[in-house]
Amino acid sequence: IRDDAESASEYVAQYMIKRINDFAPTPERPFVLGLPTGSSPEKIYKYLVEAYKNDNISFANVVTFNMDEYVDLAEDHPESYHSFMYKHFFAHVDVKPENVHLLNGNAPDLLVECAEYERKIREAGGIELFLGGIGPDGHIAFNEPGSSLRSRTRVAILAEDTIRANSRFFDNDISQVPKQALSVGVGTVMDAREVVLIVTGHNKAVALQKVVEGSVSQMWTASCLQMHENAIIACDDAATDEM
Ligand code: GLP
Repeated sequence: IRDDAESASEYVAQYMIKRINDFAPTPERPFVLGLPTGSSPEKIYKYLVEAYKNDNISFANVVTFNMDEYVDLAEDHPESYHSFMYKHFFAHVDVKPENVHLLNGNAPDLLVECAEYERKIREAGGIELFLGGIGPDGHIAFNEPGSSLRSRTRVAILAEDTIRANSRFFDNDISQVPKQALSVGVGTVMDAREVVLIVTGHNKAVALQKVVEGSVSQMWTASCLQMHENAIIACDDAATDEM
């Protein structure tokens, strides 16, 4: 628990840098990193980019897999997760384009796209560290309340709450928010050898309490991390407000 979002984000960024540098990735043995979007990780990306510019980290031997992407939203739409990732991270570091994996929400066959994604993760040797955020309803990636805790990458129907929360990125117009997304499953996240969550702000306090102190439940899917052998939650003070 850190005082504010800045210091919680800095903690996570430093942690990731240390993990990647200690791993000493090579082309034959890359570091496989799972990545999220959302406002919570933005500051982490800022720190990672700064660290790259200061020569403290290279992403040349890092393979990335993003958590999710909207369905039927043009890849170059400013709010697509593709756009988000290039704008905040990929365009500013030395990650190799062929090492970047993002789900394609416009793929002709979404089921094939999801199955292929799982296959690529397996082929890469599994995810070493999955960074994630949570939604105010406790979702991880787009695993909305009710998602099976063993779910794999699939088409996810967004919950009303999530559509409402994400409308802030779409001119506050709910009708413009995609209603479906492709998302890694809870099981996919749980398979990562390590999971690090960043949770900041008072609007996440209910979710954080359920996730940490509640029972493991498919209604607060990030609570699955209670069962993970190697998970860290980095949060700010506001996210720990008594509810
Ligand atoms: C979306 C993403 C999640 C993210 C959540 C919270 O629903 N699919 O991966 O954790 O938003 O976003 P924010 O960090 O902007 O609150």
